[in-house]
Amino acid sequence: MKVLIGYASGYGSTKSYAEIVGEELRGAGHEVDVVDAREAGELEGYDHVIIGGSLRAGNWLGHARKLAKRALKAGKANSVFICCMAATSDEGRRQLDEQTLPKLRSKLPELAWDQAGLFPGMRNMDQYGFPIRGIMRKMAEKAGDENPEEPKDYRDFELARRWARELAGKLA
Ligand SMILES: Cc1cc2nc3c(=O)[nH]c(=O)nc-3n(C[C@H](O)[C@H](O)[C@H](O)COP(=O)(O)O)c2cc1C
Repeated sequence: MKVLIGYASGYGSTKSYAEIVGEELRGAGHEVDVVDAREAGELEGYDHVIIGGSLRAGNWLGHARKLAKRALKAGKANSVFICCMAATSDEGRRQLDEQTLPKLRSKLPELAWDQAGLFPGMRNMDQYGFPIRGIMRKMAEKAGDENPEEPKDYRDFELARRWARELAGKLA
């Protein structure tokens, strides 16, 4: 199958997951293009579109939503994944299930949210400006992090590989 993976990533976490998912799907014999969601061209030639985006204040980054709408309009089968800090803890995952996913689903009900990959992200403290550093510090404090000022990398590539392998089987 010919698969497009379009990612929406502010600081690189979602992009790195998109590349890993692409690697696994290629390994399973699929033809895969991995692109920034803003640069995705014509969708016509693809059998399946995967949209990956990180969370900002409980919402998917805008260009993930834009690509998703294009994929739905073009009638493409789809898969989705989310990269976020909520996926780093049990309490965060509960919040994803009870609040974030229902909200995303209400906006774009035709997306495959039931099988969404939920991948833990990074706290890129050294890359944020002043207001965002404050938001991220508060988020870390709330999650009980002992060093909320420090950058932290929670990415779990094995989780993403497992998700991609399962998907690859379904695409066969
Ligand atoms: C301004 C801002 C708001 C965020 N809001 C959320 C949020 O509501 N929920 C969450 O779980 N993570 C949130 N995050 C964490 C990001 O999703 C996480 O850092 C992710 O790794 C970013 O991925 P990216 O580099 O691909 O954009 C936020 C990050 C920033 C910078």
